[in-house]
Amino acid sequence: MSDIRIPVFKPYIAAETMEAAFDALRLGWLGMGSYVRDFEQAVATQLGLDQRERQVVAVNTGTSALHLALLIAGVGEGDEVITPSLNNIGDFQAIRMAGGDPVFCDIEESTLGIDVNKAVELVSPRTKAIIAVDYDGVPCDWDAVHDLARRRGLRVIHDAAHSFGSRHEGRPIGAFGDIVVFSFDPVKTLTCIDGGALVVNAGDDVERLRRYRLLGMDQKAERMYANARAWTYDVAGCGFRYHLANLHAAIGLSQLRRLSEFVVTRRKACRLYNRLLAGCPGIVTPQTDFDDVAAFAYYVRVLGGQRERLIAGLRERGIDSGIHWIPGHRFSYFRDCRRGDLSTIDRVADELLTLPLHSFMPPETVAEVAEAVRECSGWAARPPACFAAFGARA
Ligand SMILES: Cc1ncc(COP(=O)(O)O)c(C=O)c1O
Repeated sequence: MSDIRIPVFKPYIAAETMEAAFDALRLGWLGMGSYVRDFEQAVATQLGLDQRERQVVAVNTGTSALHLALLIAGVGEGDEVITPSLNNIGDFQAIRMAGGDPVFCDIEESTLGIDVNKAVELVSPRTKAIIAVDYDGVPCDWDAVHDLARRRGLRVIHDAAHSFGSRHEGRPIGAFGDIVVFSFDPVKTLTCIDGGALVVNAGDDVERLRRYRLLGMDQKAERMYANARAWTYDVAGCGFRYHLANLHAAIGLSQLRRLSEFVVTRRKACRLYNRLLAGCPGIVTPQTDFDDVAAFAYYVRVLGGQRERLIAGLRERGIDSGIHWIPGHRFSYFRDCRRGDLSTIDRVADELLTLPLHSFMPPETVAEVAEAVRECSGWAARPPACFAAFGARA
């Protein structure tokens, strides 16, 4: 039994989430159906989409959404996709699933998003697309990413797994750009237990995505959205079993109704962390006031090689923390991928530590974690006399 009292992630599962799950179970149509239609509609409304221009296609995970995004971006055998090495493993695997190779790019220190000046250097005749990600919900430099893509004829896949609810220059993430991908996995701000979605410009891509997610079958989505299916259909191309289930969509819908509260309470917690940890020795807080940010997680940078010690100190106090992420170029499967200068990632990735952040997190809990960080990092900066006497290194 874990002695962790404050987990790093804590999904919001309340009575209405349970009720939504029971409703979907009572309906008895457990696969893709009316709840999926309603969830797609609700996400589109949340993003303020004009559905004649941009549409939402729900799938079963963010990783499937990335895979399908790469396919409709035309990525295939031998193509390269530039992405920050500080990214989720799902992005790298999705590139490989599409037949391509990741090309590892560095990040900007201020946002931890892709460094576009370094990405320019990595474009080759094999480059098809860029995947950029909003680390912990903080938008990366989207204007620069889109500008580079326009100049070099590349598709842009916006991995917004962390930034559902964030805004960039006043516009909701997902409402603009090329292909946008969301994840609604167990620990995301909004969870479907497992789920994902793509937002694409309306047109052929929507029909292709609907076929891809249903094993290539040309089942009419409208029929499935009415909790029914056809027994005769054609399969004219490849496909995957990537559709979202009614049960998961129902849970997502119940969560979506609380999204604004999730965002506001997380924002308050992040601002409180920033305030309480300001000036803490050896700790660097995010360079944002979280104004337009729907924070998925809250991170600090732990300087001086003290991260493991801080993790252990927090754990002793019943507080969990996380590491996001091990950079892609350090995995044996991706070791040989082309890469540029990764000096920022190589420095920062070993400093990053994710602290607990939950929707509706009480300020006292934030204060307890911040106090523990202060205690442990002060400890690291100035070893107690007893340790100094034994020659322990801080
Ligand atoms: C940035 C990012 N992209 C993609 C994914 C993959 O999403 P999923 O877990 O829904 O497959 C994650 C999951 O944590 C993520 O953090």
